[in-house]
Amino acid sequence: MTLDGDEIARFYERHPYPPPVENLDDDVAAWSDGRRRRVEHARLWPSIPYRDTHAILIAGCGTSQAARYALRYPNARVVGVDVSPTSVSATKRLVERYGITNLELRQMPIEDVGELDTSFDHIVCTGVLHHLADPDIGLRTLRDALAPAGAIHLMVYATYGRFGVYLMQDYCRRLGVKPDQRDISDLVSTLRELPTGHPLSHLLRNTPDFADDDALADALLNPRDRSYTVPEVLRLIDGAGLRFGRWVRQAPYRPQCGALTEVPHGRRIAALPEPEQFATVELFRGTMVRHSVIAHRADSPLPAVPVRWDDETWRSYVGIRPTTVSMIDERLPPGVAAVLINQAHTDRDLVFFLHAEARRIVELLDDRRRLGDLSGASAQLLERLWWHDLIMVDASDAAS
Ligand SMILES: C[S@@+](CC[C@H](N)C(=O)[O-])C[C@H]1O[C@@H](n2cnc3c(N)ncnc32)[C@H](O)[C@@H]1O
Repeated sequence: MTLDGDEIARFYERHPYPPPVENLDDDVAAWSDGRRRRVEHARLWPSIPYRDTHAILIAGCGTSQAARYALRYPNARVVGVDVSPTSVSATKRLVERYGITNLELRQMPIEDVGELDTSFDHIVCTGVLHHLADPDIGLRTLRDALAPAGAIHLMVYATYGRFGVYLMQDYCRRLGVKPDQRDISDLVSTLRELPTGHPLSHLLRNTPDFADDDALADALLNPRDRSYTVPEVLRLIDGAGLRFGRWVRQAPYRPQCGALTEVPHGRRIAALPEPEQFATVELFRGTMVRHSVIAHRADSPLPAVPVRWDDETWRSYVGIRPTTVSMIDERLPPGVAAVLINQAHTDRDLVFFLHAEARRIVELLDDRRRLGDLSGASAQLLERLWWHDLIMVDASDAAS
């Protein structure tokens, strides 16, 4: 391992993140009925029939992520790797407590994943690449470990929404603030006095990234942390021999969703090529703190556009309702029969108003029925629901 790798490993030794947990009962309960597995499958592989026997790699697994995946996917074979022994030990405690038998843990850098000599259907690498000395090499290594039809789920920090974080990182660097107990406690009292309107204030109030001292250290005192704009994420993916699949949540990147639909610029942005649309909407939103994306190998045999609404294939799709979607039917504006929201969205404008007929159609969605069998349903309504992350689709019948 390189010296730089040691520095990051040492940091996470002292400040494991996320903080270790002893109890995953809520997670186990939330995944017990199989619905979330179907939703995730449709997100990763809409063109492939559902299965849950994948080989999964959790690259930079931290304290609990690998154990969570092993419990969520009991029929899968899961490998978790991390450079930090503390994180690996925290995961081992969960393995013992929950009697997990489908997880192999390795203390190793993701740059060495090739040594496992295994190919994975599903690779999860969230909150890690931006800490590597060379994220391009890290991602290229993961790409080489990805099965031809595999899918990789990446999360990297986003530049603009984290402006306040980088501002305070610079502040801490100038003062030589160290990630020890005394300096962190002084920092916490300083942050309490930040002026109103400081770019970090809304993050301090609204995100779990500052919930405790280790989280604060992870955000403000991390020895290495870089971030990405939308065009940089797309270049990172491209440069590693991967191709963009979708944003994990697409609505925040679409001009057809939320507040932009109310202004003339919405249509102007929608006329741009898709990567430009995503880049421009990121600038409009201004507050994205991370980018979560699904990518496939550039030479993947999977269709490049697995879900389409411009011909009749949508009629064979099965619509699946994400578990985070709720329907509100109180205090509605006149003429509105219900409002759909996806609680996973942080932007409050990403709501979807339904008139009575659209509500009737949405209520017919039962995770089994083909979209073409929903009487009165149109491609236009369903596409909009899909862009808003209010339905996922299983398009495997059309693909076969
Ligand atoms: C912010 S945590 C994210 C953990 C986990 N992926 C999650 O989302 O809960 C970052 C993790 O990456 C690990 N890490 C950093 N550099 C690494 C590397 N080169 N190889 C493997 N793990 C690394 C750290 O030890 C730490 O556990």
